[in-house]
Amino acid sequence: MLTATKPPPSETASTGSATAFDRYEMASRDEIAAMQTGRLAWSLRHSYDNVAHFRAKCDAKGVHPDDFKELKDLALFPFTVKDDLRQNYPFGMFAVPMDDIVRVHASSGTTGRPTVVGYTREDIDVWAEVVARSIRAAGGSRGDRVHIAYGYGLFTGGLGAHYGAERLGATVIPMSGGQTEKQVQLIMDFKPTIIMVTPSYMLNIAEEMVRQGIDPRSTSLKVGIFGAEPWTGAMRAEIERTFDIDAVDIYGLSEVMGPGVASECVETKDGPVIWEDHFYPEIIDPDTGEVLPDGAYGELVFTTLTKRGMPVIRYRTRDLTRLLPPTARGMRRIDKITGRSDDMLIIRGVNVFPTQIEELICKDEALAPHYELVVTRDGHMDSLTVRVEMAPDTHPSTWDGHAKNLRHSIKSMIGISTAVEVADPGSIARSIGKAKRVRDLRPKA
Ligand code: DLL
Repeated sequence: MLTATKPPPSETASTGSATAFDRYEMASRDEIAAMQTGRLAWSLRHSYDNVAHFRAKCDAKGVHPDDFKELKDLALFPFTVKDDLRQNYPFGMFAVPMDDIVRVHASSGTTGRPTVVGYTREDIDVWAEVVARSIRAAGGSRGDRVHIAYGYGLFTGGLGAHYGAERLGATVIPMSGGQTEKQVQLIMDFKPTIIMVTPSYMLNIAEEMVRQGIDPRSTSLKVGIFGAEPWTGAMRAEIERTFDIDAVDIYGLSEVMGPGVASECVETKDGPVIWEDHFYPEIIDPDTGEVLPDGAYGELVFTTLTKRGMPVIRYRTRDLTRLLPPTARGMRRIDKITGRSDDMLIIRGVNVFPTQIEELICKDEALAPHYELVVTRDGHMDSLTVRVEMAPDTHPSTWDGHAKNLRHSIKSMIGISTAVEVADPGSIARSIGKAKRVRDLRPKA
């Protein structure tokens, strides 16, 4: 029988060194599959034995952890969705006694109860390990100074990045989000080499530098590790050009861990590598729940392999992407997240994600990468207005022409008619964390 009786030990090798790899980072697919099979057996058993809600769902489906014999058997087990966490608010999904939980985080979401997650000391250790590994994949090591501008607090971004950077042995500057003038001051005075922040907030930092007469290309920064929101390859190019840095993508979500579920290698920049020794990915058809082969687009689903405090089995992330084969590491990658299924707009029958519009905006250097999508309803039809700012140095006489070009490219590339409005410089709300790209003015149902 496969059931492991003990949770797997931590196997970090990452401390300090820029070149060492953790135990499974460069392992063969066979070795990875064997490790995952053992760990999945443990995680299913751990959840079934200790989380009443999961046990009830398995029993209702007539499936038991003993039915898991090989990786494909995971498909027999029920999905976990955000609503399972809400129903068991605040601590009902925890698999260990409260005394063993050393930290909670929570995400507010837009409505209703927050989603609460809990970590044991060992979970915090694994989390630090995968974030340290992520920073190392971005080219970081012990000698680096890491400026963290993800928010600290209930959001997992700040503290998640913090523990990982410390684990690597880097010097941490725990700035948190906001206070943009001070962000700039600390970047100039403390001379960090790495910044961890949302891509949209990085653009605000650039604007503030320019306002202060500082050339963003002149700072000590070498690498930015950006995530927590969808961003495109075109936005990567924009940020790299603006700051003269390498920009890599870090992915994660609080229900599964926080930042560092997957992260990109600076030498390839070809999509975040999933740290498959701790998080098992699947791609499913979001309508039928059927598991799709690697390479097919669908909804990303994760099962935690080593988490003790709040394991999740087949958690539906709502993020749309596909699995890609290993390149720089032995583990599979995810393609850029197109968006969350919740963020998809349907405009006159055509599905559209904010990232598709972003891609087109960033192609025109006369347009600033500050935009919002306003959705309204005329009768039974939804309409979309793209509000975009012009780059500060463009002459107003050219604005209409650029707006017209954007409208054409949206029509020809995405297939929808939109209005494009040139917004006054600085008039589109700037985010200090995750950008809000859509303003929905449709009447509530
Ligand atoms: O955003 C964790 C995180 C913090 C990741 C800092 C990376 C950096 P949540 O607040 O729970 O956790 O939001 C998770 O954000 O399901 C995606 O929709 C989105 N997301 C996170 N990283 C990326 C990324 C954190 N690199 C949700 N690309 C996820 C696209 C991302 N979307």
